[in-house]
Amino acid sequence: MRAHAVAQPNIALVKYWGKRDTVENLPATGSLSLTLDTLWTKMAVELQETAGADTLTVNGSENKEMLGRVSSCLDRLLGSRRAKATVTSDSNFPIAAGLASSSSAFAALVMAASKAAELPADTLSLARWAGASSGSAARSFHEGIVELRADDHRIDVRSIAGAEDWPLRVVIAVTEAAPKAVGSSVAMIRSASTSPFYRSWIELQDEDLRLAREAVRNRDFEKLATVSEHNCLKMHSVMWTSRPPVVYWNEATLNAMETIRELKRSGLPVFFTIDAGPQVKAVCLPAACDEVNAGLAATRGVKEVIVSGLGRGARLLDQG
Ligand code: DP6
Repeated sequence: MRAHAVAQPNIALVKYWGKRDTVENLPATGSLSLTLDTLWTKMAVELQETAGADTLTVNGSENKEMLGRVSSCLDRLLGSRRAKATVTSDSNFPIAAGLASSSSAFAALVMAASKAAELPADTLSLARWAGASSGSAARSFHEGIVELRADDHRIDVRSIAGAEDWPLRVVIAVTEAAPKAVGSSVAMIRSASTSPFYRSWIELQDEDLRLAREAVRNRDFEKLATVSEHNCLKMHSVMWTSRPPVVYWNEATLNAMETIRELKRSGLPVFFTIDAGPQVKAVCLPAACDEVNAGLAATRGVKEVIVSGLGRGARLLDQG
Protein backbone atom coordinates (compact mmCIF):
# COMPACT_ATOMS: atom_id res chain seq x y z
CA MET A 1 0.00 0.00 0.00
CA ARG A 2 2.98 2.29 -0.56
CA ALA A 3 4.26 3.66 -3.88
CA HIS A 4 6.60 6.33 -5.21
CA ALA A 5 6.37 8.35 -8.41
CA VAL A 6 8.16 11.26 -10.04
CA ALA A 7 6.84 13.87 -12.46
CA GLN A 8 8.35 16.84 -14.22
CA PRO A 9 6.56 20.21 -14.42
CA ASN A 10 5.48 21.53 -17.80
CA ILE A 11 5.47 25.03 -19.24
CA ALA A 12 2.66 25.98 -21.62
CA LEU A 13 3.32 27.83 -24.88
CA VAL A 14 -0.36 27.99 -25.77
CA LYS A 15 -1.82 28.54 -22.32
CA TYR A 16 -4.71 27.18 -20.33
CA TRP A 17 -6.42 30.16 -18.70
CA GLY A 18 -10.11 29.56 -18.10
CA LYS A 19 -12.40 26.74 -17.11
CA ARG A 20 -15.37 25.26 -18.96
CA ASP A 21 -16.55 23.58 -15.77
CA THR A 22 -15.27 24.50 -12.33
CA VAL A 23 -16.62 21.34 -10.62
CA GLU A 24 -14.91 18.89 -12.98
CA ASN A 25 -12.10 21.40 -13.54
CA LEU A 26 -12.43 21.05 -17.32
CA PRO A 27 -10.33 23.60 -19.23
CA ALA A 28 -12.18 26.00 -21.52
CA THR A 29 -9.72 25.33 -24.36
CA GLY A 30 -6.85 23.11 -25.38
CA SER A 31 -3.22 23.94 -24.60
CA LEU A 32 0.27 23.01 -25.70
CA SER A 33 3.27 22.61 -23.42
CA LEU A 34 6.86 21.53 -22.90
CA THR A 35 7.62 18.92 -20.23
CA LEU A 36 10.90 19.86 -18.52
CA ASP A 37 13.67 17.51 -17.47
CA THR A 38 15.74 19.33 -14.82
CA LEU A 39 12.92 20.04 -12.36
CA TRP A 40 11.04 17.28 -10.58
CA THR A 41 8.56 16.45 -7.87
CA LYS A 42 8.83 13.08 -6.15
CA MET A 43 5.80 11.82 -4.31
CA ALA A 44 5.44 8.94 -1.85
CA VAL A 45 1.93 7.77 -0.98
CA GLU A 46 1.19 5.29 1.77
CA LEU A 47 -2.40 4.13 2.29
CA GLN A 48 -3.34 2.84 5.74
CA GLU A 49 -6.78 1.60 6.77
CA THR A 50 -5.93 2.30 10.41
CA ALA A 51 -4.76 5.91 9.99
CA GLY A 52 -7.14 8.59 11.28
CA ALA A 53 -6.51 11.32 8.72
CA ASP A 54 -4.51 12.22 5.62
CA THR A 55 -1.20 13.96 6.21
CA LEU A 56 0.97 15.90 3.80
CA THR A 57 4.66 16.73 4.14
CA VAL A 58 6.19 19.03 1.53
CA ASN A 59 9.97 19.36 1.38
CA GLY A 60 10.32 18.14 4.95
CA SER A 61 7.58 20.28 6.59
CA GLU A 62 3.97 19.47 7.34
CA ASN A 63 1.76 21.35 4.88
CA LYS A 64 -1.84 22.08 5.86
CA GLU A 65 -2.53 24.59 3.05
CA MET A 66 -2.33 22.06 0.23
CA LEU A 67 -3.78 19.15 2.22
CA GLY A 68 -7.41 19.87 1.21
CA ARG A 69 -6.59 19.73 -2.50
CA VAL A 70 -4.54 16.57 -2.04
CA SER A 71 -7.33 14.84 -0.08
CA SER A 72 -9.95 15.84 -2.69
CA CYS A 73 -7.72 14.49 -5.43
CA LEU A 74 -7.40 11.16 -3.58
CA ASP A 75 -11.18 11.03 -2.93
CA ARG A 76 -11.84 11.51 -6.62
CA LEU A 77 -9.34 8.81 -7.54
CA LEU A 78 -10.05 6.20 -4.85
CA GLY A 79 -13.50 7.11 -3.50
CA SER A 80 -14.33 8.83 -0.22
CA ARG A 81 -14.32 5.50 1.75
CA ARG A 82 -10.66 5.01 0.90
CA ALA A 83 -7.84 4.35 3.39
CA LYS A 84 -6.17 7.49 4.73
CA ALA A 85 -2.96 8.57 3.08
CA THR A 86 0.45 9.68 4.27
CA VAL A 87 1.74 11.80 1.40
CA THR A 88 5.33 13.00 1.19
CA SER A 89 6.32 15.39 -1.57
CA ASP A 90 9.80 16.62 -2.46
CA SER A 91 10.62 19.06 -5.25
CA ASN A 92 13.95 20.49 -6.34
CA PHE A 93 12.46 23.95 -7.10
CA PRO A 94 10.31 26.63 -5.38
CA ILE A 95 6.64 25.65 -5.10
CA ALA A 96 3.58 27.85 -5.88
CA ALA A 97 5.82 30.51 -7.42
CA GLY A 98 4.86 30.22 -11.10
CA LEU A 99 7.16 27.31 -11.90
CA ALA A 100 4.25 24.95 -12.58
CA SER A 101 4.74 23.00 -9.35
CA SER A 102 1.09 21.92 -9.28
CA SER A 103 1.53 20.21 -12.66
CA SER A 104 4.31 17.92 -11.41
CA ALA A 105 2.79 17.54 -7.94
CA PHE A 106 -0.64 16.31 -9.01
CA ALA A 107 0.74 14.13 -11.80
CA ALA A 108 3.12 12.41 -9.36
CA LEU A 109 0.40 12.18 -6.68
CA VAL A 110 -2.10 10.46 -8.97
CA MET A 111 0.56 8.14 -10.35
CA ALA A 112 1.78 7.08 -6.87
CA ALA A 113 -1.69 6.85 -5.28
CA SER A 114 -3.13 4.71 -8.09
CA LYS A 115 -0.22 2.29 -7.71
CA ALA A 116 -0.49 2.24 -3.90
CA ALA A 117 -4.18 1.36 -4.25
CA GLU A 118 -3.45 -1.13 -7.06
CA LEU A 119 -5.96 0.66 -9.25
CA PRO A 120 -5.76 -0.58 -12.82
CA ALA A 121 -5.69 2.59 -14.95
CA ASP A 122 -4.19 3.68 -18.25
CA THR A 123 -2.19 6.87 -18.71
CA LEU A 124 -5.10 8.83 -20.17
CA SER A 125 -7.38 8.01 -17.22
CA LEU A 126 -4.63 9.02 -14.79
CA ALA A 127 -4.09 12.27 -16.72
CA ARG A 128 -7.83 13.02 -16.53
CA TRP A 129 -7.85 12.43 -12.77
CA ALA A 130 -4.82 14.64 -12.25
CA GLY A 131 -6.30 17.30 -14.56
CA ALA A 132 -9.45 17.36 -12.42
CA SER A 133 -7.24 18.60 -9.56
CA SER A 134 -4.96 20.87 -11.58
CA GLY A 135 -5.57 21.35 -15.30
CA SER A 136 -1.90 21.60 -16.24
CA ALA A 137 -1.05 18.34 -14.39
CA ALA A 138 -2.71 16.30 -17.14
CA ARG A 139 0.08 17.37 -19.52
CA SER A 140 2.89 16.13 -17.23
CA PHE A 141 2.02 12.49 -18.02
CA HIS A 142 3.70 12.88 -21.39
CA GLU A 143 7.18 13.62 -22.66
CA GLY A 144 8.54 16.45 -24.75
CA ILE A 145 6.00 18.66 -26.49
CA VAL A 146 2.46 17.87 -25.39
CA GLU A 147 -0.95 18.85 -26.66
CA LEU A 148 -4.09 18.77 -24.52
CA ARG A 149 -7.46 18.89 -26.28
CA ALA A 150 -10.67 19.64 -24.45
CA ASP A 151 -14.34 19.19 -25.32
CA ASP A 152 -17.48 19.60 -23.24
CA HIS A 153 -17.00 16.30 -21.44
CA ARG A 154 -13.34 15.47 -21.14
CA ILE A 155 -9.76 16.05 -22.13
CA ASP A 156 -7.35 14.12 -24.33
CA VAL A 157 -3.60 14.47 -23.99
CA ARG A 158 -0.70 13.24 -26.10
CA SER A 159 2.91 13.97 -26.88
CA ILE A 160 3.36 15.47 -30.35
CA ALA A 161 7.20 15.46 -30.32
CA GLY A 162 9.85 13.95 -28.08
CA ALA A 163 13.09 15.55 -26.87
CA GLU A 164 15.00 13.68 -29.58
CA ASP A 165 12.66 15.01 -32.30
CA TRP A 166 13.21 18.66 -31.39
CA PRO A 167 15.65 19.21 -28.50
CA LEU A 168 14.40 22.61 -27.35
CA ARG A 169 15.90 24.17 -24.22
CA VAL A 170 14.10 26.18 -21.56
CA VAL A 171 16.15 28.70 -19.56
CA ILE A 172 14.21 29.87 -16.50
CA ALA A 173 14.98 33.24 -14.93
CA VAL A 174 13.78 33.07 -11.32
CA THR A 175 12.95 36.61 -10.23
CA GLU A 176 11.14 35.75 -6.97
CA ALA A 177 11.07 32.44 -5.13
CA ALA A 178 8.25 33.33 -2.68
CA PRO A 179 4.76 31.90 -3.29
CA LYS A 180 2.51 34.08 -5.45
CA ALA A 181 -0.24 36.17 -3.86
CA VAL A 182 -3.13 34.87 -6.02
CA GLY A 183 -3.37 31.21 -7.02
CA SER A 184 -4.13 30.41 -10.65
CA SER A 185 -7.52 28.73 -10.02
CA VAL A 186 -8.91 31.81 -8.25
CA ALA A 187 -7.32 34.18 -10.78
CA MET A 188 -8.72 32.25 -13.76
CA ILE A 189 -12.24 32.33 -12.41
CA ARG A 190 -11.85 36.07 -11.75
CA SER A 191 -10.64 36.64 -15.32
CA ALA A 192 -13.59 34.74 -16.79
CA SER A 193 -16.12 36.81 -14.89
CA THR A 194 -14.51 40.25 -15.11
CA SER A 195 -12.09 40.71 -18.02
CA PRO A 196 -13.66 42.31 -21.12
CA PHE A 197 -11.04 40.43 -23.19
CA TYR A 198 -11.79 36.95 -21.83
CA ARG A 199 -14.24 35.96 -24.56
CA SER A 200 -11.96 36.83 -27.44
CA TRP A 201 -9.01 35.15 -25.65
CA ILE A 202 -11.01 31.89 -25.60
CA GLU A 203 -12.27 32.29 -29.18
CA LEU A 204 -8.75 32.72 -30.58
CA GLN A 205 -7.21 29.73 -28.80
CA ASP A 206 -7.99 27.16 -31.51
CA GLU A 207 -6.17 29.23 -34.10
CA ASP A 208 -3.10 29.60 -31.84
CA LEU A 209 -3.13 25.87 -31.21
CA ARG A 210 -3.29 25.18 -34.93
CA LEU A 211 -0.33 27.48 -35.57
CA ALA A 212 1.72 26.01 -32.72
CA ARG A 213 0.96 22.42 -33.79
CA GLU A 214 2.01 23.27 -37.35
CA ALA A 215 5.21 24.95 -36.10
CA VAL A 216 6.09 21.84 -34.10
CA ARG A 217 5.33 19.54 -37.03
CA ASN A 218 7.64 21.57 -39.31
CA ARG A 219 10.23 22.31 -36.57
CA ASP A 220 9.65 25.97 -37.45
CA PHE A 221 11.20 27.84 -34.47
CA GLU A 222 10.28 31.34 -35.71
CA LYS A 223 6.66 30.41 -36.10
CA LEU A 224 6.54 28.77 -32.66
CA ALA A 225 8.20 31.88 -31.18
CA THR A 226 5.65 34.24 -32.74
CA VAL A 227 2.56 32.35 -31.66
CA SER A 228 3.91 31.55 -28.16
CA GLU A 229 4.88 35.14 -27.27
CA HIS A 230 1.60 36.44 -28.63
CA ASN A 231 -0.37 33.83 -26.69
CA CYS A 232 1.49 34.64 -23.47
CA LEU A 233 0.89 38.38 -23.82
CA LYS A 234 -2.79 37.83 -24.58
CA MET A 235 -3.16 35.73 -21.40
CA HIS A 236 -1.44 38.41 -19.31
CA SER A 237 -3.65 41.08 -20.91
CA VAL A 238 -6.67 39.11 -19.73
CA MET A 239 -5.11 38.90 -16.25
CA TRP A 240 -4.30 42.63 -16.15
CA THR A 241 -7.81 43.59 -17.25
CA SER A 242 -9.48 41.43 -14.59
CA ARG A 243 -11.06 43.17 -11.62
CA PRO A 244 -9.21 43.41 -9.32
CA PRO A 245 -6.25 43.07 -11.72
CA VAL A 246 -4.02 40.02 -11.56
CA VAL A 247 -0.46 41.22 -12.10
CA TYR A 248 2.26 38.63 -11.56
CA TRP A 249 5.18 40.56 -13.07
CA ASN A 250 7.84 42.48 -11.17
CA GLU A 251 10.63 44.76 -12.36
CA ALA A 252 12.99 41.83 -13.02
CA THR A 253 10.30 40.11 -15.11
CA LEU A 254 10.36 43.11 -17.48
CA ASN A 255 14.17 43.23 -17.42
CA ALA A 256 14.37 39.54 -18.35
CA MET A 257 11.88 40.04 -21.19
CA GLU A 258 14.04 42.89 -22.48
CA THR A 259 17.18 40.72 -22.30
CA ILE A 260 15.43 38.06 -24.38
CA ARG A 261 14.32 40.69 -26.92
CA GLU A 262 17.92 41.93 -27.21
CA LEU A 263 19.27 38.40 -27.67
CA LYS A 264 16.64 37.84 -30.33
CA ARG A 265 17.56 41.10 -32.10
CA SER A 266 21.18 39.91 -32.15
CA GLY A 267 20.00 36.92 -34.17
CA LEU A 268 19.63 34.20 -31.52
CA PRO A 269 16.73 31.73 -31.79
CA VAL A 270 14.97 32.49 -28.49
CA PHE A 271 11.57 33.61 -27.22
CA PHE A 272 9.91 34.18 -23.84
CA THR A 273 6.90 32.85 -22.05
CA ILE A 274 5.55 33.69 -18.56
CA ASP A 275 2.94 31.85 -16.49
CA ALA A 276 1.00 32.72 -13.35
CA GLY A 277 4.04 34.10 -11.59
CA PRO A 278 6.96 36.49 -12.11
CA GLN A 279 9.45 33.97 -13.56
CA VAL A 280 10.47 34.33 -17.20
CA LYS A 281 11.06 31.24 -19.29
CA ALA A 282 13.23 31.60 -22.38
CA VAL A 283 12.75 28.86 -24.95
CA CYS A 284 15.68 28.44 -27.34
CA LEU A 285 17.50 26.09 -29.66
CA PRO A 286 20.46 24.22 -28.07
CA ALA A 287 23.11 26.32 -29.84
CA ALA A 288 21.76 29.51 -28.20
CA CYS A 289 21.47 28.07 -24.69
CA ASP A 290 24.80 29.27 -23.22
CA GLU A 291 24.32 32.85 -24.41
CA VAL A 292 20.72 32.95 -23.18
CA ASN A 293 21.82 31.55 -19.81
CA ALA A 294 24.61 34.16 -19.50
CA GLY A 295 22.33 37.00 -20.61
CA LEU A 296 19.61 36.15 -18.10
CA ALA A 297 22.10 35.52 -15.26
CA ALA A 298 23.47 39.05 -15.84
CA THR A 299 20.01 40.65 -15.88
CA ARG A 300 19.22 43.02 -12.99
CA GLY A 301 16.93 41.38 -10.43
CA VAL A 302 17.30 37.81 -11.69
CA LYS A 303 18.03 35.64 -8.64
CA GLU A 304 18.77 32.31 -10.27
CA VAL A 305 18.82 30.74 -13.71
CA ILE A 306 17.76 27.13 -14.28
CA VAL A 307 18.48 25.42 -17.59
CA SER A 308 16.33 22.53 -18.73
CA GLY A 309 15.83 20.32 -21.72
CA LEU A 310 12.64 18.45 -22.54
CA GLY A 311 11.79 15.64 -20.14
CA ARG A 312 9.80 12.47 -19.70
CA GLY A 313 6.25 11.90 -18.56
CA ALA A 314 5.28 10.96 -14.99
CA ARG A 315 6.46 7.52 -13.94
CA LEU A 316 6.64 5.17 -10.97
CA LEU A 317 9.83 4.93 -8.97
CA ASP A 318 11.10 1.60 -7.82
CA GLN A 319 11.48 2.35 -4.10
CA GLY A 320 8.36 1.19 -2.49
C1 DP6 B 1 -0.74 30.05 -16.37
O1 DP6 B 1 -3.11 24.08 -13.85
O2 DP6 B 1 -2.37 25.61 -12.00
O3 DP6 B 1 0.33 27.97 -15.92
O4 DP6 B 1 -6.45 23.80 -12.96
O5 DP6 B 1 -6.83 25.77 -11.52
O6 DP6 B 1 -5.06 24.10 -10.88
P1 DP6 B 1 -5.83 24.78 -12.00
O7 DP6 B 1 -4.76 25.65 -12.77
P2 DP6 B 1 -3.24 25.38 -13.17
O8 DP6 B 1 -3.06 26.58 -14.20
C2 DP6 B 1 -2.02 26.74 -15.06
C3 DP6 B 1 -2.05 28.12 -15.63
C4 DP6 B 1 -0.85 28.53 -16.45
C5 DP6 B 1 -1.02 28.17 -17.90
C6 DP6 B 1 -0.80 26.72 -18.28
O9 DP6 B 1 -0.03 26.01 -17.61
O10 DP6 B 1 -1.36 26.32 -19.32
